[in-house]
Amino acid sequence: MPLRDLTPAVRPDPPPADVARFLREADRRVARFQEEVVIPGFVPSDPAGAFRVLRALADSEQIRGRRFCEWGSGFGVVTCLAAMLEFDACGIEVEWQLVDEARRLAEDFGLSAEFVCGSFVPPGAEGRVHAAGQYAWLTTEADDAYRELGLDPDDLDVVFAYPWPDEEGVTEELFERYGGVGAVLVTFRGGGEFRVRRKTARRR
Ligand SMILES: C[S@@+](CC[C@H](N)C(=O)[O-])C[C@H]1O[C@@H](n2cnc3c(N)ncnc32)[C@H](O)[C@@H]1O
Repeated sequence: MPLRDLTPAVRPDPPPADVARFLREADRRVARFQEEVVIPGFVPSDPAGAFRVLRALADSEQIRGRRFCEWGSGFGVVTCLAAMLEFDACGIEVEWQLVDEARRLAEDFGLSAEFVCGSFVPPGAEGRVHAAGQYAWLTTEADDAYRELGLDPDDLDVVFAYPWPDEEGVTEELFERYGGVGAVLVTFRGGGEFRVRRKTARRR
């Protein structure tokens, strides 16, 4: 199987004070933003839960490196948390207003997280995405974010995504096809549930 489940040793203890402070402020900003702007495809995941999973991965030998990317980074909260855990963190988001908010959040907390406005769907994969089905919010109509980042999808060591239920399959397929061998995909599945998988072999 190209993707194998991993079970990182997630600790239940609360986040450090600086992370807790960041989470409170991020929550406040997201709530305020959502009162003012409607972006139907943007639904925040569970940043505190994502922090625990990423902390477990960061403390383990389950990752091959520290280059992190959030596919569909929304407000950028998880990417910022990855930066706090000393990942080399970037986020790709198609909605410019969210990219602006994410950049502001990172800047206000002095975090070196990079946000790019564009699509995480690699160039050439658009047909594959459309062939796999129709999606509520996943779009392929955007600039190639990887070129702006100066990265290829297989450079990424850890990818985080919160796909809508109808996008889960295609998100996995993109990771299986374009991710690097040994790279890890973390997905949030709602209800506090995260799934962590490693790509173990190239797909034929
Ligand atoms: C369910 S939200 C998750 C937001 C964020 N990852 C989080 O955990 O809070 C999915 C995000 O993906 C974005 N999105 C959808 N298709 C995209 C694409 N092809 N490239 C980049 N972002 C995309 C949406 O605009 C939305 O902000």
